[in-house]
Amino acid sequence: MTTNRTFTMIKPDAVKNGHIGAILDKINASGFKIVAMKYTHLSKTDAERFYAVHSERPFYGELVEFMSSGPIVAAVLEKENAVEDFRVLIGSTNPEEAAEGTIRKLYATSIGENAVHGSDSDENAAIESDFHFSQREIY
Ligand code: GTP
Ligand code: MG
Repeated sequence: MTTNRTFTMIKPDAVKNGHIGAILDKINASGFKIVAMKYTHLSKTDAERFYAVHSERPFYGELVEFMSSGPIVAAVLEKENAVEDFRVLIGSTNPEEAAEGTIRKLYATSIGENAVHGSDSDENAAIESDFHFSQREIY
């Protein structure tokens, strides 16, 4: 169990809007160490599989279209209490409800196009990291 690791993606909207650098800066400044990272592009099938847990939700189709609409940055982050602390750093799903200074408040445009993903549990962090990275790609 990788209790001090979480998984993140900088989503297609934030990549397109030129926020990769600013978001990575904020991640580093908040005490997270990047232990794996890649610039990649999810196929529609990849996005369907990654977000399979949401397949019954009304926004699933929109989510899959959006997440496969352009390149993303995927990364594994390490810090004590990583999952919870990263959720605080990114802010609420809906940027209108996100706290001042959070990544979503600063860079998200809507509830769907909300700049970043953050794992919601240690178990999912491990599953999501494995989805994108082999053990040889994590340092
Ligand atoms: P992630 O870190 O991306 O998992 O976001 P989250 O944990 O804050 O939210 P959740 O897991 O509930 O939803 C996953 C993603 O689905 C969100 O980040 C949004 O991109 C998208 N989503 C959630 N609710 C809505 C919605 O009402 N409309 C649309 N279009 N997308 C939504
Ligand atoms: Mg989630």
